[in-house]
Amino acid sequence: MSLVSAKEMLQKAKAGKYAVGQFNINNLEWTKAILLTAQECNSPVILGVSEGAGKYMCGYNTVVGMVKGMIETLGITVPVALHLDHGSYEGALKCIEAGFSSVMFDGSHYPIDENIEKTKEIIRVAGEKGISVEAEVGAIGGEEDGVVGGGEVADPDECKQIADLGVDMLAAGIGNIHGVYPENWTGLNFDVLAQIQEKTGTMPLVLHGGTGIPEEMVKKAISLGVSKVNVNTECQLSFAAATRQYIEEGKDKQGKGFDPRKLLAPGTEAIKATVKEKMELFGSVNKA
Ligand code: 13P
Repeated sequence: MSLVSAKEMLQKAKAGKYAVGQFNINNLEWTKAILLTAQECNSPVILGVSEGAGKYMCGYNTVVGMVKGMIETLGITVPVALHLDHGSYEGALKCIEAGFSSVMFDGSHYPIDENIEKTKEIIRVAGEKGISVEAEVGAIGGEEDGVVGGGEVADPDECKQIADLGVDMLAAGIGNIHGVYPENWTGLNFDVLAQIQEKTGTMPLVLHGGTGIPEEMVKKAISLGVSKVNVNTECQLSFAAATRQYIEEGKDKQGKGFDPRKLLAPGTEAIKATVKEKMELFGSVNKA
């Protein structure tokens, strides 16, 4: 199956009261692990690419080529969206050009009027190619790729203004942050989440910072209208721990254990396990 927009899979998720996972990719192993797990779980999936990761993987054209090639070679038949994560205005336009099937334009750091104008333009350009668009209101806290957000709680009225422009999914800050949550984190603001959903009707909402949110909170967020949950750091932590264990056990020094295909295998398997766990939690298994 070729890449699909995230629109239809999120509308289905919304109606079915589950969420589709967005898992960020960093390289070939990540991409392969996530695609294989989605297929094994018969789950739709969104591959997230931050601008930094896109640069690391040698540009958006390389990413599109790698993902499309893998879908074909691995015989992936579940719906896969290739999505720019926290894109700048210019980055979103580049991804639309390169063949992504979905983009996020993160204008949350602009004044609301400028966020609206730029989001409108991205919707217009993406719409011509059937590409889905995610917008953001209220910066998500924490640090991601050098972008530091303040951890705001979105204004539900501003959310409605952006939702009414015709975006396909809306990320709204509700106390969630990227990366590992600090000890003194006070949790998600469900009152605001409920207000945002009330104002935006059936708009699929996006929960960023999926790493480390307690399971019960994730389930409650999904019950209140979240249809997409983003996970990045947790796969990185799983990969790093499994790779560290392999080296600490001296396996890279046994036989040809230094071969990258062997050295990176435990980390790749660990990503698969994390992705499977999340797909089960989000309820997207067998929803392809
Ligand atoms: P985490 O790294 O906290 O899982 O957040 C991922 C994310 O929200 C990507 O946009």
